[in-house]
Amino acid sequence: MSDDTEVHLEARLAEQDEFEPPESFVEQANVTDPGIEDEFEDNWPEAWERAADLLDWETDYDEVLVDDNEPFYEWFVGGELNASANCLDRHLDDRGDEPAIEWIGELGETRTYTYEELHREVNEFAAALRDQGVTEDDVVAMYMPMIPELPIAMLACARIGAPHAVVFAGFSADALAERMNASDSEHLVTVDGYYRRGDPLDHLSKAREGREQVDGDVTTVVVDRLGEESPADVAGGEHVYGDLVEEHAGATVEPVTRDAEDMLFLMYTSGTTGKPKGVKHTTGGYLSYVTWTSHAVLDVKPEDTYWCSADIGWITGHSYIVYGPLALGTTSVMYEGTPDYPDKDRLWEIVDDYDVTQLYTAPTAIRAFMKWGPEYPDRHDLSSLRLLGTVGEPINPRAWKWYYRHIGNEECPIVDTWWQTETGGMMITTLPALNTMKPGSAGPPLPGISADVIDPSGDPVEAGRAGHLVVNKPWPGMLRTLYKNDERFINEYWDEYSNPERDQWVYFPEDGAKIDDDGYITVLGRVDDVLNVSGHRLGTMEIESATVGVEGVAEAAVVGGDHEIKGEAVYAYVITEDGQEESEAFREEIIAAVEDAIGPIARPEQVIFTPELPKTRSGKIMRRLLEDIANGDELGNTSTLRNPDVVHDIQQKVSSE
Ligand code: WTA
Repeated sequence: MSDDTEVHLEARLAEQDEFEPPESFVEQANVTDPGIEDEFEDNWPEAWERAADLLDWETDYDEVLVDDNEPFYEWFVGGELNASANCLDRHLDDRGDEPAIEWIGELGETRTYTYEELHREVNEFAAALRDQGVTEDDVVAMYMPMIPELPIAMLACARIGAPHAVVFAGFSADALAERMNASDSEHLVTVDGYYRRGDPLDHLSKAREGREQVDGDVTTVVVDRLGEESPADVAGGEHVYGDLVEEHAGATVEPVTRDAEDMLFLMYTSGTTGKPKGVKHTTGGYLSYVTWTSHAVLDVKPEDTYWCSADIGWITGHSYIVYGPLALGTTSVMYEGTPDYPDKDRLWEIVDDYDVTQLYTAPTAIRAFMKWGPEYPDRHDLSSLRLLGTVGEPINPRAWKWYYRHIGNEECPIVDTWWQTETGGMMITTLPALNTMKPGSAGPPLPGISADVIDPSGDPVEAGRAGHLVVNKPWPGMLRTLYKNDERFINEYWDEYSNPERDQWVYFPEDGAKIDDDGYITVLGRVDDVLNVSGHRLGTMEIESATVGVEGVAEAAVVGGDHEIKGEAVYAYVITEDGQEESEAFREEIIAAVEDAIGPIARPEQVIFTPELPKTRSGKIMRRLLEDIANGDELGNTSTLRNPDVVHDIQQKVSSE
């Protein structure tokens, strides 16, 4: 393309703020009936049957929604099903020989699991887990990177009715132990190690260190990922995954009948306080919801090769690599590596090689692609793509348009999907064949979802004004509670805006948002003390508590500063104790402590030593000011501070780093 045309195109896109669904997409889309919105409105909650209808039930449910003990809602009550049977067994007749998982390893090696093969290995591992003493309702912790054994272990657990609790492999040993203790988990499935940028990484030592801090005996299964290169050998008492599967070759395990409301899994996520929240998801409601949204929003069809580039250690991978796509019998791509190894065209090479039809990724990745430049996608044929998606953080219009143009060739709709660990699946997004897209705005709430933006007194805000995002009606994929902590569940999500006397229950996701005249919602970000670093949710309190745990630190405050690629980065302001040197070595010690407590994703971008923290007269740390300083922004009013002079000192320190 000549430079002139290029400039012309860029200019046209820069001005355009609304985009219609491409005709070629609409012609073949799963959901094309504009009446769907009214159907949900007129026939709520029964309209949700269409989600449940996408699954096979062993026993039909009696009631779609039971709401006599709010906010403990129950969905598809009386129904019975098994998630593993829905993701595997029911596809065997028609799609047994078709790929369920296409796995691409970090070193370029590949594995294909057909539905038949996946079914076989899930059965074998389910039999092995049973032999290890895992019974229905036992929580099994999984601490693994992006290898096929992770979804296999998840589905094996689902098969025998044992909820899984997957811990992101990048989390530290301490974080693993905390989650295993909190979930009463006595079983662990992990791996010897994995590759990063071609080098083998030891994971088993970390897993063992975590296991040692768990109360009670833990049975451990270790996947042999590294073979000869493994830095740690499996020790006595640990079982090798490959041996177990071999010992149970050909075994079959009847899927255990689960009630719709039985727990499918726990997923720990960050909140305002230091303790992670154990979000509980159920078999019937969650599985229906992720299957329905995969169908309606991601437009997944069995013959697709669909790719979500998230990590299964987070909710996006659970819902949209494993459960939603497999329930629909499609081919789900799983990539172990990073997008820039061996080169910055790795993702586009995979799209090209596998003829990927949908790509679902995060704004942080798109910002990196933009920075690297269009020459990387330009090297490949991306014409197999039909739909693009994003999730995890707000996407700015420039990044949206770059994605639309350079990856989608202006022929793919983009779904900007807002949701959370707690919501189970997507809540606010355009329907790709039905709604106009407005870059920067996620879109309207999905049909059947009732969301609004309100002011502190609970009234809807005017169009264009910022307020709090709330959800006014329950939905099938919603969390049911926080594990063994109903009280915290109510405090965290329902207390703020509900009015139990009037029987009004309002879910508060702790996000700020704006709404426009067409009801499109732009999510602005968290209003609690949770950071979003590269789309990963981190609690500032968890990072602060790791920081103050270092000997020589007197006090600390952690805030998020803007970051070009990551969205947000961690800034730690630290007051040292008398006699403690403010040295580079001490700074490194603090960073290492945060990595030990949480993991490298929480690594502070900057550690700033300060003699004082800006505080109000009542002694509250003014985090807003610390954020302004991190961003180099104009400072707001400092007159209410007890110690206004300190702000100037800190500002100078940050700008000189
Ligand atoms: C943010 C990830 C803007 C939001 C699925 C939410 C978003 C938090 C979007 C949940 C989006 C997610 N636009 N912000 N499309 N999607 N978020 O639990 O702040 O890891 O509360 O779930 O990510 O993060 P979580």
